[in-house]
Amino acid sequence: MYKSLIRPILFRFDPEKIHHFTFSSIRFLNSIPGIPSLLKSMYEVNDPRLEREVFGLKFKNPVGLAAGLDKDAKLYKELANMGFGFIEIGTLTPKPQDGNPKKRLFRLREDGGLINRMGFNNGGVQEAVERLKKNPKGKGHVLIGGNIGKNKVTPNEDAVSDYEICFDALYDYVDYFVVNVSSPNTPNLRELQDKEPLTNLLQTLQDKNAAKPVQKPILLKIAPDLTDEQLLDIIDIVKTTKIAGVIATNTTISREGLVSENKQETGGLSGKPLTKRSTEVIRFLSEKSNKAFPIIGVGGIHTADDAIEKLEAGASLIQLYTGFIYEGPALIKDINKKLLNS
Ligand SMILES: Cc1cc2nc3c(=O)[nH]c(=O)nc-3n(C[C@H](O)[C@H](O)[C@H](O)COP(=O)(O)O)c2cc1C
Repeated sequence: MYKSLIRPILFRFDPEKIHHFTFSSIRFLNSIPGIPSLLKSMYEVNDPRLEREVFGLKFKNPVGLAAGLDKDAKLYKELANMGFGFIEIGTLTPKPQDGNPKKRLFRLREDGGLINRMGFNNGGVQEAVERLKKNPKGKGHVLIGGNIGKNKVTPNEDAVSDYEICFDALYDYVDYFVVNVSSPNTPNLRELQDKEPLTNLLQTLQDKNAAKPVQKPILLKIAPDLTDEQLLDIIDIVKTTKIAGVIATNTTISREGLVSENKQETGGLSGKPLTKRSTEVIRFLSEKSNKAFPIIGVGGIHTADDAIEKLEAGASLIQLYTGFIYEGPALIKDINKKLLNS
């Protein structure tokens, strides 16, 4: 129904406006008695064979929502009703920020992709915390990842303290953390992926983590544009800092093979054009590290087969963003069903 009826209407309008409209519609629908259970019965696949235990957490299924869609923790409960096994909120920064001027999100229909240069628009970490507080974790709550970043105005030399602020603020309210140093839309952010600053950043957070009564898994989210040499550095850094794992990958700055007319927009490219490269990165990390740490695979998953390919390449869990926009919530169910039958 989504692809034949809803998507053709939604795709007529500006992508960011539609994002807000869909957000409000999902929230409204979920406020109608009976709808949350209806959505669950339509999209959830409950089967113990789908459960995964990864970095000490028990996931009810391996299909998660990637960061960026529910940046401010406004809709994670409602999105969970569509069958996701976990939801990643963020990227959150210490202070609220508007992000880049609009227009900043573009649909590349012929390529099955999106280009975005949102620039970490978010209401700030504290506002998200206030929302998370209203939904104390109870039995059956969906696992939540907290994806953290730095404000645009914070120079890279002071970036560590931005990540520390977000870590401290979210510590009691999320199940795992993601250190995002791979967005192409915050100037110079990707320089934090270099060996020295990255080791320093992750070690500082790990030290903070060690001082807490319970340690939360910290993951690193990387760009698909890293060279093999840089990926080998990442493996070293994960081993030295003993972080829990890696999310591969964020969006790409490559424009290879695109046909859509708006392909030259500045920003990060996601969706189908990213499928192959992100799987290559997952396979490289998994093979070269001898499966030393878990990987969450993300990038261009638009079919159940794409998901299986990422898992076979070495991912323990997967996440969706652009595929969810193009294919709708049925994709989550398709993947879980296929996993049960393969
Ligand atoms: C509009 C948009 C906003 C995004 N915002 C974030 C973000 O704030 N933090 C982050 O780590 N990744 C962000 N991403 C990247 C996604 O989480 C994901 O890594 C990437 O899009 C590749 O997956 P996909 O091809 O399934 O979309 C964003 C992606 C899109 C399309």
